[in-house]
Amino acid sequence: MLVTADARNPLETRTDLLVVPVPALDGPQSRLPSRLALLDRALDGRVRNIVESGDFRGKKQQRALLYPNGEVPAKRVLLVGLGPEGGVDAEVLRSVAGDAVKEAMSRHAAKVTVAVPGFRRMKPPGVGQALAEGAVLGGYRFDEYKNPGEEPPGQVAAFQLSFERAPDARAARGGARKGSILAESQNVARDLSNQPGNALPPAGLAREAQKVAREVGLRAKVLGPADLKKQKMGAILAVGGGSHNSPRMIALEHKPKRATRKGETICFVGKGVTFDSGGISIKPAAAMDEMKHDMSGAATVVGALRACALLNVPHHVVGIIGAAENLPSATAYRPGDVVTAASGQTIEVLNTDAEGRVVLADALHYARTQYSPKVIIDFATLTGACVVALGRWASGLFGNNDKLVEAVRRAGAESAEIAWPLPLFDGHKRAVKSEVADLKNTGAGREAGSSTAAAFLAAFAGDVPWVHLDIAGTAWTSRPSSYQPRGATGVGVRLLLQLLDSWKSVRL
Ligand code: BES
Ligand code: MN
Ligand code: ZN
Repeated sequence: MLVTADARNPLETRTDLLVVPVPALDGPQSRLPSRLALLDRALDGRVRNIVESGDFRGKKQQRALLYPNGEVPAKRVLLVGLGPEGGVDAEVLRSVAGDAVKEAMSRHAAKVTVAVPGFRRMKPPGVGQALAEGAVLGGYRFDEYKNPGEEPPGQVAAFQLSFERAPDARAARGGARKGSILAESQNVARDLSNQPGNALPPAGLAREAQKVAREVGLRAKVLGPADLKKQKMGAILAVGGGSHNSPRMIALEHKPKRATRKGETICFVGKGVTFDSGGISIKPAAAMDEMKHDMSGAATVVGALRACALLNVPHHVVGIIGAAENLPSATAYRPGDVVTAASGQTIEVLNTDAEGRVVLADALHYARTQYSPKVIIDFATLTGACVVALGRWASGLFGNNDKLVEAVRRAGAESAEIAWPLPLFDGHKRAVKSEVADLKNTGAGREAGSSTAAAFLAAFAGDVPWVHLDIAGTAWTSRPSSYQPRGATGVGVRLLLQLLDSWKSVRL
């Protein structure tokens, strides 16, 4: 989908769907905003009629579809409610664009034009970015495995933003480009996460990461089982030991020619469990299929690194992915096993289903020792307990540095990928100390399961400023919304790029 910005008159633009966002109107007789009044005149008062009927008042989510009689070149006109003008923010615009694209797809409308009004709270670059994000994210479908039926669903090829003033259109262009790249990168993350376990084992995930790296100019490095043994990565090897699909450690590196704050490296780390059956501590059958998404943290890292490259982010950013498949078999690791991580720390495995933290133990150590990062931020579908605590509304946010936690929380709020702080107490750390090894991979029964998992990770982050995002509740959804279809969300890509945008002002 190509998103463009110009100042052409939408009433003179040939398009399949003209979208007219309308802020809330006071009452049936209230004055129409300037652009709507022009449309009303062109359509012989039919906009006025709809408003007076009470069917459309510009309330959020309200819509009305009109079919012009040749008075304007647009084939269809869609009025969409914005709610109160003062409440219009990036998230409202993402939703509007997402809904518009879905409407267009269902009617096989290939070209969409938006008559963009001015907003009090938002400037053109932000407007362009939010509309582009919503359009590209809303147009996402995962239909790789569906044979085309009678009538294949429509696709939007062009999403044109018509501003009222030429300088605004020019100012919006950079934002539209940025929003498109962010959303396309988020869609890359969705694609990876939506792939079933049989299609994307650890080696396949590594190949896909390498492919993305080639396309956008990232350095890629993949460690296979022999390298993992050489590096004494007993933790990831234990988790992957039950599957014929052997584990991989994947590194993607974005090294800009001119980096600000030279010498500082930012590491993103992702859990890449390509399928999590639970292993010997096997999961119940219900919803086990969803565990194909257990590599969503890895998908976020690939998507974020892609965006770093395409947006020329002026920071040295490295993405590390620990990829393994967790299956029960004669070679699987067992409850009671003690394994030695690359750091030398020993782990008593009490539950083979708490495998994510075990994989991340080696991934965090690899990030620390290979890249000496200034900060580490990890993404992992780590605990069911986090879904219980926060539902699908927010990712769990933990860390060992309050300023970094706050910077990530803010980046989440600004990108509408909410990350909510949860505690990491000394007691949580004591709860993952083992009698027979340095650490055990489960805490105190079911108590504070997300916090004890984070406490386990903290032992491997050591003294590096580190944040952990538990995305178990946010990585996929069964309840679609405006720009989020059912399935993988690609959560975290927008948050991370927002964080990098604000990095200059982050002082640890
Ligand atoms: N991948 C799961 C966590 C998960 C569960 C993510 C549900 C999304 C939805 C993780 O590997 C896991 O199984 N965690 C266990 C830990 C427990 C055994 C300590 C859990 O949450 O039950
Ligand atoms: Mn598990
Ligand atoms: Zn898992």
